[in-house]
Amino acid sequence: MAGKPLVVHVVGARPNYMKIAPLYAELGRRGLVEQKLVHTGQHYDREVNEVFFDELPLPQPHAMLSVGSGSHGEQTAAALVGLERFFGEWRPDLVVVPGDVNSTLAGALAAAKLQIPVCHLEAGLRSFDATMPEEHNRRLTDHLSSLLLTHSENADENLANEGIASDSIALVGNTMIDTLLANVERARELAAWNEYGLEAGAYVLVTLHRPRLVDDPTLIEQTVGALEEVATEIPVLFPVHPRTHKRLAALNGSGPTRMQVTPPLPYTRFVSLQAGAAAIVTDSGGIQEESTALGIRCFTLRDNTERPVTVTHGTNEILGLDPARIVEIPERLKHVRNSVLPPLWDGHAGPRAAAAIERLLGVAAA
Ligand code: UD1
Repeated sequence: MAGKPLVVHVVGARPNYMKIAPLYAELGRRGLVEQKLVHTGQHYDREVNEVFFDELPLPQPHAMLSVGSGSHGEQTAAALVGLERFFGEWRPDLVVVPGDVNSTLAGALAAAKLQIPVCHLEAGLRSFDATMPEEHNRRLTDHLSSLLLTHSENADENLANEGIASDSIALVGNTMIDTLLANVERARELAAWNEYGLEAGAYVLVTLHRPRLVDDPTLIEQTVGALEEVATEIPVLFPVHPRTHKRLAALNGSGPTRMQVTPPLPYTRFVSLQAGAAAIVTDSGGIQEESTALGIRCFTLRDNTERPVTVTHGTNEILGLDPARIVEIPERLKHVRNSVLPPLWDGHAGPRAAAAIERLLGVAAA
């Protein structure tokens, strides 16, 4: 192999950036590989995209596609075509894809067909819910990958159950939590709750964006109604994802009035609000993990989770996709729930992931 091996990282949507940043930074520090970052443009609004590049240790992408919105087929296909072109030109020695969004699967498929090895960062998560588009992205990406970097033992078990060889799996921990821990002090100092007239430890933070919930007119209306009821007991703050924004606008008279609604927030400000909350209500995957790492109570509005370690070890409670249960939250908060940090969610997953990649590429220091 002439020169240093080239590692190309693929990102496309908001949760990808926090996962890839610690790995990109660490591989850069160690200096044994060349790196490039390619962005598919799946997320394109400044507030769910560029603001993250300003805050995280990520370079501006070396290549930018403009996949944008569309059906799953359109989005995945556009990313596949665009990524194949760059991979063909650059001939990377490894393609790294984080998470479970449509860009993740597109990157893995484009690389595998060009016989370029794939590394899946955050491998092995399973909700066992085939109605979630992300579940297909996870499963297929794992089976296209030569190196599977996992964040919990449970993920390793899922991969073993699907017949994936144990020598292609490395349990490295959670790089998203590396990013969180690197920023949490600054986030606490920011005390973003003050900007909304809130007191630390005395408000509920809400995020909702899953199609299963927000694209169902009855469910979203009932959920907003239940959150409005909670807001009579404890202030509720709701930063709204672009998908959800469109659905709330369609609610006419039954939209939020008691709770505070804001546009999506930059990373540090959102972490600040998580750290200061009494509880978080969410249907996001990443926020179940971040709240566990912060020790903040989390109520998940889904029937399942691909992140069971946040329930067995962390602060997460699966309320179910049942808006009626949201009103239980103030009462539940009166009862203490103990939690511990899952193993290897210690802020050092990036170096372990970098070492696993160097071993695969045969450049690891002796
Ligand atoms: C995507 C991911 C999801 C991830 C989420 C984080 C898939 C299948 N889904 O879902 O796993 O948790 O990102 O945010 O990859 N839109 C904008 N501006 C943008 C991006 C999207 O207005 O910058 C609008 C789109 O027009 C669309 C909606 O938001 O109507 C949804 O966007 P899309 O990328 O399809 O999926 P997400 O719900 O963001």
